[in-house]
Amino acid sequence: KPPKQITNEPVKAFAGKDTVEWDLLRASISKFKSASLDVPLVIDGKRIYYNEGGRSHFKQTNPAHHSQVLANVTQATREDVKKAIESSKKAKNDWYKMPFYDRAAVFLKAADLISTKYRYDMLAATMLGQGKNVYQAEIDCITELSDFFRFNVKYASDLYAEQPCESSPGVWNRAEYRPLEGFVYAVTPFNFTAIAGNLIGAPALMGNTVVWKPSQAACLSNYLLLTVLEEAGLPKGVVNFVPGNPVEVTKEVLADKEFSALHFTGSTAVFKQLYGDIQQGVVSNLYRDYPRIVGETGGKNFHLVHPSANIPHAVLSTLRGAFEFQGQKCSATSRLYIPESKSAEFLNDLAGTLSSIKPVNTSASKINGGDLHGFMGPVIHEQSFNKLAKVIEEAKSDPELEIIYGGNYDKSQGWFVEPTVIKTTNPTHKFMSTEFFGPVLTVYEYPDNEFDKICEIIDTTTEYGLTGSIFARDRDAINVADEKLKYSAGNFYVNDKCTGAVVAQQWFGGARMSGTNDKAGSSNILSRFVSIRNIKENF
Ligand code: ALA
Repeated sequence: KPPKQITNEPVKAFAGKDTVEWDLLRASISKFKSASLDVPLVIDGKRIYYNEGGRSHFKQTNPAHHSQVLANVTQATREDVKKAIESSKKAKNDWYKMPFYDRAAVFLKAADLISTKYRYDMLAATMLGQGKNVYQAEIDCITELSDFFRFNVKYASDLYAEQPCESSPGVWNRAEYRPLEGFVYAVTPFNFTAIAGNLIGAPALMGNTVVWKPSQAACLSNYLLLTVLEEAGLPKGVVNFVPGNPVEVTKEVLADKEFSALHFTGSTAVFKQLYGDIQQGVVSNLYRDYPRIVGETGGKNFHLVHPSANIPHAVLSTLRGAFEFQGQKCSATSRLYIPESKSAEFLNDLAGTLSSIKPVNTSASKINGGDLHGFMGPVIHEQSFNKLAKVIEEAKSDPELEIIYGGNYDKSQGWFVEPTVIKTTNPTHKFMSTEFFGPVLTVYEYPDNEFDKICEIIDTTTEYGLTGSIFARDRDAINVADEKLKYSAGNFYVNDKCTGAVVAQQWFGGARMSGTNDKAGSSNILSRFVSIRNIKENF
C-alpha cells in the first residue's frame, strides 16, 4: 500500500560547486554529450530502431550548441502507429485487472528511482536536451515528476477507497471506477519532462493503456523516463512510445474506433484543431464512445501591480515569472501592468537586475537557486528562435512599442534570446494578447486612478485564462482584482509570481482557451480517465 503520508519531493540545492552531487551530475552530462543516443520506438515492449526497415530519424540537438546531436530519434511510420494502437488494446485487459496497488507500485517505484538511482541522468538529459539549468531541471524532472507519480497514487487510492453511493435495506449500490473502454493518446510537450510523465502516468494509473507521442525536442529525457518506468515494472504495451511526425501520428490515432481520450499539453492552435477533429469523428460515428478531451494549452499571463504593492518583491517576481525557463512555460508572465506613479522605480529596478543576467549554456554553468549566473539558457529550437527574433524586429518598427530592455538574439552557437522588455502605449496591443512562448515581456503603464478599468482590460484582452497575479498591500485592491479577474486565470496568485505551481499545493490548469481546466496535480484529472459503472444488486 502507498505510504499514508505523501509529501512533496524536496528540491536539492546544488549549492557549492565541488560537492558529490556535482561530480555525479557532471558524469551524467559527459555521458550524454560524448555520444548521441539512438532513441527507438517502443511498441509492445519491443525496441525498433531507425536503421531497421528504412525508417527516418530526427536529430534532437542541444539547444545551447545546435551542432551537437544528443539523440537520433526513430520516427514512427503509419504502420508503427497502428501496431502501437493494437498493442495498447492487447495490454489493456491484464493491466486493468491487475490489483490497483500493483499498478500503483510501478509509479511509486518509478518516483523513487527518479529521485535516487536515475536522478543525475534525468537531470542531465533534461538540462542538455531542453536547455535548463540544474535548478530548473530539479524542479521539473525530479520533484514535479515524482510528485505527480506519488500524489496521483494517493488521489486514486482515496477515490477507490470511498464508496459514494447510498445503499438501502436489501439493496447494495456501488460505483465502479472502470478505465475508459478504448485507449488514451498522450501528446506531450518539450518544456517539462514532468508534464510528459503526468500525461502518460495519470491515465495509466487508472487502468488505461496509452499511445504516447512525445515532443521531438524532448525525446532524450522522455525515453529515459520510459526506461525508468519499465525498470519499475511497467508491463509491455501499457505505454507505447511513438515519436514521429505529429500530423501523421495523430491522424492515424484519431482514425481508430477505440480512441477514447486525448491527454494533451501544447499550443492552443493545435489543441483547437484536434478538438474539432475529434468532434467531427463523433459526428460521423467514427468512435465507439465520446472521447474525453483533456488539454492544457497556451496563456498570456499577467502581473498586475497596484500602487500599494511591495515594488522590489513585485520586480523580482516578475523577473522570475517572465524569464526563468526562458519564458518557455505556458504559465510564464508575459504582460505586466504597472501604475504610472511606480513605473520609473519598477522599470529601473527591473533593468538593474536584468543586467546581471546573460543567457548562457546552462548545463555547463554552476547555477544554484539564488544565483543569476546561468539563470537563463537557450530557447528550444530554431523555429522558436526565429519566431522570437521576428517578434523583436516587429517591436522595433511599431510606433506603439518601445524596447526598453534587451532586444538582442544570437544563434551562432545556440538559440539564445536576450530577456526583452517592451513597453506599449496601447493596453490592447496584440503584444498584450499573443503568446510568444519566450523571454519577451510587454508592459503597460496605467493611470493610478484607473485600477478598476485596467482589471476590465486585463480580463477582455486575450482569449486565455491560465495564470495571473495581483501585487498589492491594499486588501480592497486585492478584492477588486479577485472579483473582476474571476475567469481571467485558472491559477490566481496574490503577491506571488504566476508560475511555479507545486503538485498537490496549487492545482494547475486554466480555463477559456487555455485548456479544459482539469487541474494537473489534483484528483480531478484522474476522474477524466475513468468511466464509472453503477451497479445495483438486490439481496
Ligand atoms: N505548472 C507549471 C507552472 O506553474 C507550468 O509554472
